[in-house]
Amino acid sequence: MRGNGGIYLILNMHIRVFPDGNTLAAGVAREVICNCEQAIAERRVFHWVLAGGNTPKQCYALLRHARMDWNRVHVWFGDERCLPFGDAERNDTMADQSLLSHVLVPSSHIHRIHAELGPEKGADEYAVRLADAPPMDLVLLGMGEDGHTASLFPGNPALIDDRLAVPVFHAPKPPSERVSMGYSALNRARKRIVMAAGSSKKGALQRIRKGERLPVARLMACERYVDAAASSG
Ligand code: 6PG
Repeated sequence: MRGNGGIYLILNMHIRVFPDGNTLAAGVAREVICNCEQAIAERRVFHWVLAGGNTPKQCYALLRHARMDWNRVHVWFGDERCLPFGDAERNDTMADQSLLSHVLVPSSHIHRIHAELGPEKGADEYAVRLADAPPMDLVLLGMGEDGHTASLFPGNPALIDDRLAVPVFHAPKPPSERVSMGYSALNRARKRIVMAAGSSKKGALQRIRKGERLPVARLMACERYVDAAASSG
């Protein structure tokens, strides 16, 4: 398998399989850079939605050294945990530590979710900003072992909430309260990439291959970038 991943089509979704987490991170980083260049060439700006969790950390660290026109990059978040600003477990804290504090993206271009306000207020406030924003150029997303993505979890009412940003209660992955982009915002973006690494994600990908409409499978056309351990081969 080449370092840039073998591509195959399943259920009309592009899946790119990389040998390991390192090549996966490099592959996604290349895709971010390419989409950034294309967006800036066409529209003079790149609106990029960051994924939370652990999977994207290595990719973000690689992008510290990327030749991107950070002055024309706007960073958004796919979801945020309802924790105090600066909490170590927040997704924007992870993004700051792995990337944003290392690059010259203007602070006014970092559109944080004010999840510290709580799910309802945080979602309402973020939805107003999303409504004023153009379609996102690229959304990066992770995937949980249950097939959740962003903070859209199986069986949760947030799945059928058509607002641009939705409050999330009773999330099975702590913390239980979150704010997430809803499908209407995620599917409005020009492109979506879902990242999954490690054998713990294999089951969810197998269930999706069999046609189960897990939350991540309800996204409109998206590309899945996975490592061999997560891929059912
Ligand atoms: C979060 C994320 C969540 C994450 C997946 C995968 O708040 O944790 O938004 O959707 O992307 O749970 O997490 P890992 O990358 O840590 O496996």
